[in-house]
Amino acid sequence: MATTQIPQGAGIIGAAVPRIDGPLKTTGTARYSLDHHFPNLAHAVAVQSTIGKGRIRSLAASAAEKRPGVLLVLHRSNLENVFRTYPRQEDGSMAESRPPFDDDQIFYFGQYVAVAVAETLEQATAAAEAIRVEYDPETPDVRPDLSAGFTGPRDSSWKRGDPDQALASAPVTIDETYVTPVETHNPMEMHGTVAVWDGEGFTLYDGSQGVVGHRTTMSEVLGVPRENMRTISRFIGSGFGGKLSPWPQCTLAAAAARKLNRPVKLSVDRRMMFTSVGHRPHTQQRIRLGATADGKLTAIRHDFFSETSMLDDFVEHCGEQTPFLYSCPNLEVTTGMVRRNVGTPAPMRGPGAVPGLFALESAMNELAVKLKMDPLELRLKNDAERDEGTNRPFSSRHLKACYLAGAEKIGWKNRTPAVGSMRRDGKVIGWGLGGASWGAARIPCTATVELCPNGRVCVRCATQDIGTGTYTLFAQVAHAKTGVPLDRIDVFLGDTTLPDGPTSGGSMVTSAMLPAATSAVTSAVARLLNVASLIPNSPFHGAHPDTLTIAEGRVMAKQQQPQVVGAAYHGGGNLSANGIPFEEVLRLADIGSITATGRTAPSFEDPKARSYSMHSFGAHFAEVEYDPEIARLRVSRVFSIFDCGRIINTKAGANQILGAAVMGVGMSLLEETRYETRTAQPINGSFADYLVATCADLPDLDVTFLDYPDYIVNEYGARGIGEIGMAGVAPAITEAVYHATGVRVRQLPVRIEDLLESKVLEA
Ligand code: MOS
Repeated sequence: MATTQIPQGAGIIGAAVPRIDGPLKTTGTARYSLDHHFPNLAHAVAVQSTIGKGRIRSLAASAAEKRPGVLLVLHRSNLENVFRTYPRQEDGSMAESRPPFDDDQIFYFGQYVAVAVAETLEQATAAAEAIRVEYDPETPDVRPDLSAGFTGPRDSSWKRGDPDQALASAPVTIDETYVTPVETHNPMEMHGTVAVWDGEGFTLYDGSQGVVGHRTTMSEVLGVPRENMRTISRFIGSGFGGKLSPWPQCTLAAAAARKLNRPVKLSVDRRMMFTSVGHRPHTQQRIRLGATADGKLTAIRHDFFSETSMLDDFVEHCGEQTPFLYSCPNLEVTTGMVRRNVGTPAPMRGPGAVPGLFALESAMNELAVKLKMDPLELRLKNDAERDEGTNRPFSSRHLKACYLAGAEKIGWKNRTPAVGSMRRDGKVIGWGLGGASWGAARIPCTATVELCPNGRVCVRCATQDIGTGTYTLFAQVAHAKTGVPLDRIDVFLGDTTLPDGPTSGGSMVTSAMLPAATSAVTSAVARLLNVASLIPNSPFHGAHPDTLTIAEGRVMAKQQQPQVVGAAYHGGGNLSANGIPFEEVLRLADIGSITATGRTAPSFEDPKARSYSMHSFGAHFAEVEYDPEIARLRVSRVFSIFDCGRIINTKAGANQILGAAVMGVGMSLLEETRYETRTAQPINGSFADYLVATCADLPDLDVTFLDYPDYIVNEYGARGIGEIGMAGVAPAITEAVYHATGVRVRQLPVRIEDLLESKVLEA
């Protein structure tokens, strides 16, 4: 890697550092979960239900069992005593609160009913096809209207003032319902498990966003002490929330491995991704806003339904941002959980906030139209200076600055508000905007730093890098505090044998890992300098450790610290003045290595942090181009301006917002999992039929970070950026669609059928 182009020393914090794991991935050297092979590895293929509701009448496995190479057919009748205990929806619990093959009931299409295990994948596939399952089907409930049949209860949260009274007396009101469909996570790396049983416990290679929680859950499910369990997830082809908790394929692979006493691989294919490993649930949200004639909000009601499976209590918390985004005295959020015969939902990038802000921000855009007010001005007028939900000050909030910067970028002052009034190159142009927010916290994290005798630095933590740049951030901290070049820093993540680290979820790893990594490396260096001053054969013998420092990987007297970066490392000048390499100190002291541990104290134990409301903020400005002659719509530009605290790696950080904006374009125009009503099968459950945004769909994307440090969250001032970028894209795009076409889309995605309603004509 061309490390010379990257700022050296402390300047690496905040620089655009390429991912240190990039070469491993681009050369195919990185081993993902399913890349792990073992002698004697057996292959498993799952059989899934072909009905959406009912029961298994009979399951005939004997033909399959007689096929060549078949080792085992697992089904309900031979899976006794595999699962000892089973957790129900607690932190770190199974994504589906029911063991596979629990009984003969079918709750959704694609539910696992059997697994065939054979010597080869082909033999296992053939055996799975030979398993005969007969069902007593019932009509599944996949009614698209989530209010249909809902009898309650509704949970109320964040209530303040009297929203109903305020709505009744408001001069201007909005009352609309917004719908977001089921969206399926489609990370490049599909789920899958290689399970290895050693007679006492398991090693599970499973695509996981949280190996520590994964080990705890699997230990409880499989009845094996945690000490005998190991989960490994070193490289992940992203997860988007779908890999936060283990799914049943992991349990089944482990059960088969134990029964056969052989390693077993079970992979989830792209079709199975649509039924068996979570999705963002369908939401239906009624928003009521009340305002004065000059655009001051007086009431907000956010009453939503969130769909879950028959097996779980998953709620998409659409109202989480509603209490604090705007200043408003009267407010209530209510939640209704609705069951349908679909697979269990899961968090998906920006859970709650992404669909929730589609509704709230769309309603704000509609209110602006009704008020004949600029939607930007409406937001500035109602900006909250304090979190009115928790009645705490924000640790740092620069949402107004995001809006103003975005307005400058797109040239908002040139906007003409009338529908269809802006034209360019024969096309109608529409502009829209939407705000974003996502919570911040400092969660517990432990990391170790080892100064090794070969001159390398090893950093270890059992958090993961799901593609976001976490490996690189650890290396940046180690480099910033030692000056050891990046290509001599080794970072080890994604393995429960490492010091406990957080789940890669909630955009919280960066703010958690920074204090732990910093304190580990600082302690290791302090020990090194102590050793350098104590040992008799050191050139620094007798010096007070406070007069010593480490720079460019070398121990030196503080006044010798190089002023020109690279001077010492590249060997100019005389050696004694430039100090000695740290590994030389270890050699002189005759010690193998120096290791130190750092821990992050969580913000929920920090009275100061607890007195603040901690969130990131952002705004998207979207432009669409509409060709009325053929109802052709393109998103042409998106400007994303984000206030996420200090950015540690501007390259990886901008990548997060860019990727999220791409998913936002997909959400707005393309993504939707649809269910066939008789069998509850996802009818577009494949990459041929489920549309995601591709390069050809993408606008010019432009990301700006405001870079205001938030020192309440941690000493670097950094908050998370993984999820927030997806919030606010869809309302910005649907507002732009309205501006261009006059069509208000409240049910995503925007379809050509919607656009055909447009009365806007060519110029
Ligand atoms: Mo995020 S949806 O917590 O991976």
